[in-house]
Amino acid sequence: MKILLIHGPNLNMLGRREPGIYGSTTLPQIDAAMRERAEAAGATLLAFQSNHEGALVDFLQAEGWDAAGIIINPGALTHYGLSLRDALASLSAPIVEVHLSNVYKREAFRHTSVVAPVATGQIAGLGWRGYLLALEWLLGEQT
Ligand code: DQA
Repeated sequence: MKILLIHGPNLNMLGRREPGIYGSTTLPQIDAAMRERAEAAGATLLAFQSNHEGALVDFLQAEGWDAAGIIINPGALTHYGLSLRDALASLSAPIVEVHLSNVYKREAFRHTSVVAPVATGQIAGLGWRGYLLALEWLLGEQT
């Protein structure tokens, strides 16, 4: 069972980037914790980060078709990334949209997600553990 973990622009800077909002856990630490949990459940986790929307679309086109689940934090592309949204919409795997911060408590432009209508569900505001919760849900969906 293959699960994709996808991170959009600027998420490679976690730990240094506005830690008061996004926390001090780094992206490699998140990916490692997620991989450990997935492997304990007999699943394979494929993690990918890019600052470029097209690279995220390329990754989804290459790896999305046989994925059992997709966890994605699209970063700012959440709010305007229509080609990313279309790439997600073309896939049949369940999709969980994750945000570290509670985007609904922040600036108005963050209140709209173009990804949410094609996602199965969303987790926002629970910090990096939101990813683990998304993974637990996906693992439970498969059993
Ligand atoms: C974010 C929220 C977005 O608005 C922002 O552009 C990000 C991170 C979050 O995880 O809270 O890059 O997706």
